[in-house]
Amino acid sequence: MAIVQKDGFSSKFGVIAAAAGSAVGLGNIWRFPYITGENGGGAFLILYVFFVIVIGVPVMMSEFVIGRRSESNALGSFRKLAPGTPWWLIGLMGIIAAFVILSFYSTVSGWTLEYVFQSINQGFTGKSMNQLNIDFVTFTSGSFRPLLWQMIFMLLTAAVVMCGVQKGIEKATKILMPMLLVLIIAVCIRSVTLTGASEGLRFLFEPHFEKLTFKAVLMALGQAAFSLSIGMGALITYGSYIKKDTPLLSTSIQVASADTILAILSGIMIFPALFALGVGNTGGPGLVFVTLPAIFQSMPGGSIFAIVFFLLISVAALTSTISVLEVVVAYLKQEFNMSRLKATILGTVSISILGVFCTLSFGPLKHVTIFGKTVFDLMNYLSANVFLTFGALFIVIFTGWKLGKSSFVDELNQSGKINPIVTNVIVFIIKFIAPLAIAAIAIGAFFIEGLT
Ligand code: PFF
Repeated sequence: MAIVQKDGFSSKFGVIAAAAGSAVGLGNIWRFPYITGENGGGAFLILYVFFVIVIGVPVMMSEFVIGRRSESNALGSFRKLAPGTPWWLIGLMGIIAAFVILSFYSTVSGWTLEYVFQSINQGFTGKSMNQLNIDFVTFTSGSFRPLLWQMIFMLLTAAVVMCGVQKGIEKATKILMPMLLVLIIAVCIRSVTLTGASEGLRFLFEPHFEKLTFKAVLMALGQAAFSLSIGMGALITYGSYIKKDTPLLSTSIQVASADTILAILSGIMIFPALFALGVGNTGGPGLVFVTLPAIFQSMPGGSIFAIVFFLLISVAALTSTISVLEVVVAYLKQEFNMSRLKATILGTVSISILGVFCTLSFGPLKHVTIFGKTVFDLMNYLSANVFLTFGALFIVIFTGWKLGKSSFVDELNQSGKINPIVTNVIVFIIKFIAPLAIAAIAIGAFFIEGLT
């Protein structure tokens, strides 16, 4: 009798490559530096790392546990583990979050492709930081090129997802992730050896807690969730593809560590260069697209570096976008009995439609605002600070109060190797600390900052 092999990750390394691939992306290289810059530097970084440890890792473990135990997608998993209850709404929120995230994320991913193209054509040579800034604004406020690159990026994402978990997602991430690490380290070395770099390092590592507003605390939490890919079911979906004998505690710690190291390295890559090149802390989404070309200009072999580097940012973005699209594809496939191909096409087309509005909000739709934000800014803000933050909150409440300690520990601790003190601490954090902390920050930020 033929055994039908279920599609899933083949090894622990495969799981880590895919999950770290999801975690490491534009959130680390593009979003983390400018959010840190806008929210006080060193103090923000300390809070960020604190949230990764106290909230990020427990939520990540919870997602893996929910996914593997149910062997189901982001919504189906809650239906399976808590039948006849409204818990599936958390899954639904995750599916909506996937749409919101991918719509603006694919805009920036498209920019990275334009910058690969520009660097191949020597587009940065001889340009001042000011000129690079003008070029960035001119490009992003157009229509045709940014939309073209966004669509190409969505097609690339769809192509990987279409090939399935092991032959698509795992294969791609296993090759691309180690390459990314080597390149980031190389650019960091260049950045910190520029004259005047130390001021940037000081900005990144010296804490000034007086600069932290309540909103900055919410941003740190939101950024931690965004960067770790938690709160919307991407890791529930990946969890459903993990083999039963893969340990989930160590996997979560390794993925979170890799993601945090890469975020800090991105800060080390950006801030010293910003200060050394005399621009100080100019923030905003353009940060990476203006600063990096300026650094490349000032280094020997910079044009080659620029090509490889923008290619790698694109790759980091791609390994993340596939995990977001997979949330939608797994859902459509399992809940509506669609083929992978059909689910991929439907997911890609519908997300791309929303994506067009995000891309155009730098140009023709610049003046269309909702709550004082452009479509892009609104999606960017909502994704991390509302969807993922509340998603993370409900996920830990589900694990701590509905799934129950014995199922959680049983799924986590497959071979009974974890010390019971450790599991008790984790369960305590999941039941009490994480939900209270997330709720206090989210509600506090709304009342204190939202009304002023
Ligand atoms: N973690 C990704 C990044 O830092 O770029 C973004 C992301 C991917 C967020 C997947 C959420 C997600 F489910």
